Amino acid sequence: MAITFNNGTFQLSNKHMCYAMRLLDGNLLHLHWGAPVNAEEIGVTVKGTAFCPTTAYENGSYFLGNLMQEYPFFGVDLRRPACSVELMNGCRAVEPKYKSHRIYDGKPMPQGLPAVYTEEDSEAQTLEIVLADSYAGIEIKLFYTIFNDLPVICRRAEIKNTNAGYAYIHAAASAALDFFDSDYKYMHLHGAWAREKHVEINDVHHGIQGFESLCGHSSHIENPFMALMRPDATEDSGDVYGFSLVYSGNHRFSIISDQNKRLRVMCGINPENFKWKIDEGESFATPEAVMVYSGDGLSGMSHAYHKLYRTRLCRGKYRDAVRPALINNWEGTYFDFDEEKLLKIAESGKNIGLELFVLDDGWFGERNSDDRSLGDWYVNKKKIPSGIDGLARKINALGMKFGLWFEPEMISENSDLFRAHPQWRICVPGREPHPSRQQFILNYAREDVQDYMIETLNSILKSADISYVKWDMNRSMSDIYNIMAAPDRQGETAHRYILGLYRVLESVTQTNPEVLFESCSGGGGRNDPGMMYYMPQNWASDDTDALERIYIQYGGSMVYPASTVGSHVSAVPNHQVGRTTPLAMRGTVAMAGMFGYELDLSKQSAEDIAEMKEQVELYKRIRPLVTFGDYYRLSSPYKERYAAWMFVSEDKESAVMSIAYMLAQPSHLCDRIRLKGLDPDAVYELDGKQIHGSTLMNYGFVFECNKDYSGMMYEIKKVK
Ligand code: GLA
Repeated sequence: MAITFNNGTFQLSNKHMCYAMRLLDGNLLHLHWGAPVNAEEIGVTVKGTAFCPTTAYENGSYFLGNLMQEYPFFGVDLRRPACSVELMNGCRAVEPKYKSHRIYDGKPMPQGLPAVYTEEDSEAQTLEIVLADSYAGIEIKLFYTIFNDLPVICRRAEIKNTNAGYAYIHAAASAALDFFDSDYKYMHLHGAWAREKHVEINDVHHGIQGFESLCGHSSHIENPFMALMRPDATEDSGDVYGFSLVYSGNHRFSIISDQNKRLRVMCGINPENFKWKIDEGESFATPEAVMVYSGDGLSGMSHAYHKLYRTRLCRGKYRDAVRPALINNWEGTYFDFDEEKLLKIAESGKNIGLELFVLDDGWFGERNSDDRSLGDWYVNKKKIPSGIDGLARKINALGMKFGLWFEPEMISENSDLFRAHPQWRICVPGREPHPSRQQFILNYAREDVQDYMIETLNSILKSADISYVKWDMNRSMSDIYNIMAAPDRQGETAHRYILGLYRVLESVTQTNPEVLFESCSGGGGRNDPGMMYYMPQNWASDDTDALERIYIQYGGSMVYPASTVGSHVSAVPNHQVGRTTPLAMRGTVAMAGMFGYELDLSKQSAEDIAEMKEQVELYKRIRPLVTFGDYYRLSSPYKERYAAWMFVSEDKESAVMSIAYMLAQPSHLCDRIRLKGLDPDAVYELDGKQIHGSTLMNYGFVFECNKDYSGMMYEIKKVK
């Protein structure tokens, strides 16, 4: 790995890739990102086209709007900019030029924002480039980190006001770069509540395309991730470029094909309703974008993200530990429970080998329905006479850990908290705010609200033996206004909320290092790398139907490791779609993540309980593989009637393959799946037979199944 600067060319290279930029008369241009090259040998065409404003250059003139740029500003380049700043005189044109740069080992962390980290400086190198416009009094620091052995570049920017007086930032992308041509497709993960992360691949066309969230959270609608793919790229071959934003708020991903068929790609905070004031000497820091290059198709990209996010984004004790198999009472009871009922469920969980009982919504205040009590984080003794501490002790006495649900960013109108602090809710003064799920959002942009929540949560977590927390967030943001801020700072509110949230999360997770935190936002409304920095697990969707989950988990696997995916077996008919799938299929699908059950275990048939016991035993055996192994997609549910995937241990000694057969078909003989990731020369035992890795990978595994909703799992062991 090395970062070099020679003859005006910056190169960040390792054995997988090269990322290169060139200085031209002080302008920072993009040269190349992809397979290794010697970027000093690449020329820059300065030719112009009509209607393109030109700039003097020592050998003639050149045209910024025709060049591949690295972090373009609004002004001379006429395409959509990465950054747009309004100066005190109202001028929006900024022309930053190279000022200085620095190359060093390690990776600095942005203050107050989540980001990928290093444990040793030797793991990565960082390049900082400073650009400046002395007329505007604006300085931009661009950060690039390259890792030793991963095809990853982490990027972010800081924008500083060096003039006396103020300036407003209207847009500041985390990363931007121009590709030489537009012959690409792009993949994004779109959806809705309970239908998150569906894969869509579009052709790139002329003009502006892309996707965004304006929900105040990263959203179910568009995950903050995109893969740019060459048209011939497949699961295992071809050039793919991943862009993933370490951010949990409003985001925008733009893909812009210009008049010369150059392609501009940008991602960052959504500029819509964003306006950030920087006073003299102040800086604004963007969130981080994590960019992955793969010459080996989608699988190469996913492997890089999985490894990086599992080991250098997630933190804490549970980063390197298997997670307890759990029983969550939500779909089993909803709000209708008492202590006795909960203990019965926990006991049945213990009997099938589960390790953690999670008490979901409904344990606090007068919370017997979803129209009240959010904010009143004290136990409802009518339901739980022993209190949280007492209940936790009873669960512990069964030999299980105890976990608890919170929704700490919300407030119900019908709550003691609202009666005491009506001004803590986000709303526009003098206007009726819009409830969603009959609830409102606490203004996390306020420091007093942050402090209150830190204090409240830390003291509850101290008061009982709570080993797990599910941190939920069940509505999008509307009526955005911060009564504490001046009129010209209202455009800061949505981002200040996220910064406030990160402050609370940092305090609560660091004060309680023994607790396993799982984030949730009505399922996958905040399934993003920002949250993963604080919480290593995410409830991937409120949809627990096995068939629907296949698509949700397939999409999520593009970027997020299985160790971050909460996945449960629930009752049938399924509560979201009414579908009945066999327990085997539900188990197979749920075991592709951090496994658990979400139903009333005390009401299951003896036959199902016996099968569940076997499932839990199997899960405990394969759990290290699912948590730490390499994940391979073996088929696409969009193309085949089955979904298949496997996990392989790093040393290739063991693996597990899962097949979920979705729909049967008449006149069907059999199917073949080619395995991946095994040692070709080794002999493996699979389904009672001994077969070479080469045969399993190059010829494949043939199976006969023609039954709707079948779930099959095969443990694979190296025998020689
Ligand atoms: C959200 C979560 C669910 C459950 C409910 C409780 O919808 O995604 O898993 O916790 O809230 O209200």
